[in-house]
Amino acid sequence: MSVDGGRVEFPDGFLWGTATAAHQVEGGNWNNDWWAWEHDPASNVVEPSGDAIDQYHRYREDIELLARLGFNAYRFSVEWARVEPEPGQFSVAALQHYRRVCEACREQSIAPVVTLHHFTTPRWVHGEGGFEERAVVDRFAEYTRRTVGALGDLVSHVCTFNEPNVFATAGYLAGAFPPAKQDAALRRQVNGVIVEAHHAAVEVAREAGLPAGLTLAMQDWQAVDGGEERRARILRNYEDVYLEAARQDDFIGVQTYSREFVGPGGTLPVPEGAETTQMGYEFYPEALEATIRRAHQEAGGIPVVVTENGIATDDDERRVEYVRRALLGVSNCLAEDIDVRGYFYWSSFDNFEWAHGYRPKFGLIAVDRDSFERRPKPSASWLGSTARANSLAPST
Ligand code: BGC
Repeated sequence: MSVDGGRVEFPDGFLWGTATAAHQVEGGNWNNDWWAWEHDPASNVVEPSGDAIDQYHRYREDIELLARLGFNAYRFSVEWARVEPEPGQFSVAALQHYRRVCEACREQSIAPVVTLHHFTTPRWVHGEGGFEERAVVDRFAEYTRRTVGALGDLVSHVCTFNEPNVFATAGYLAGAFPPAKQDAALRRQVNGVIVEAHHAAVEVAREAGLPAGLTLAMQDWQAVDGGEERRARILRNYEDVYLEAARQDDFIGVQTYSREFVGPGGTLPVPEGAETTQMGYEFYPEALEATIRRAHQEAGGIPVVVTENGIATDDDERRVEYVRRALLGVSNCLAEDIDVRGYFYWSSFDNFEWAHGYRPKFGLIAVDRDSFERRPKPSASWLGSTARANSLAPST
């Protein structure tokens, strides 16, 4: 990192990308557990994903648009339920589809960063007990082997699991994601199974010469009024178990949206009067710097990639301000020789935000829900130009 005439420069080869996940953008992912959950009257999901933004068919124009805007990387996920619709039955057509997506990226000089598991699990895996059962480790390794075998020569980085901490906590402790259980011991068990599946997948990716790691949901947890012990307890099973598991990986993906205060009795509400986003989070872009530092330290100094950072808002100027301040945090870390390799904004497009449906607007690009027309917002041009310049202009 260097500062030149007020501009903050980023290192050569820095990855400037945006991120999505299959279930949130592809549409028609009826063969996974989330689709079933969306249609379960007992679930908390406000509307089903349906056609999402139809990226399954529109990936080429999406990738061309991202390249035109100035980005050099795209993080997306492969849908396991499409690749292996039934146990042991792999779909050549689905693998060829994802190969074409990677080819479209390469044609546009975009590095494809591929996530293998982004919250959704095939219905049949779910039926076999999902991530409660160790049997899933071999299943996941084989799915990884087939996927890497089909796309590996085109892929830039492999993210095994997206936010396994959210997946395990929301699904097995908070009861907010499928299978909607609330059992602390089960959550710990699922953490353990995921760590094993992750290590198995990293090995497979490495055999193919690909750098691999996991991406973690991290907040800037700040203890107040003697909340240190409680903070440490939250971190143990939420972040630390995965940061420790990542120490031999090729990188750690940091995904941060805000901070959270912790008192002796638990997490506290956002302070009165603080600006909040459509998700109800505090507007606090400085959280990213804190979590990069923590990830770097706890994961043993391996390279960091910011695999998600962003804001849900209708006010696109606040989006620019949020990202600008978050990027200053990245540059502070680089100045102290923390090896940050890239920044991926969440999300490229307004899309299906899980239980919240299509209401929160995280996208740099809006999507017309009837025609699927893509409409880049001013923030898309701003971040794209920042990417192309590989430097951040001083704020005016
Ligand atoms: C997830 C995304 C999600 C985003 C915004 C992350 O937790 O990886 O799937 O849409 O945050 O909430």
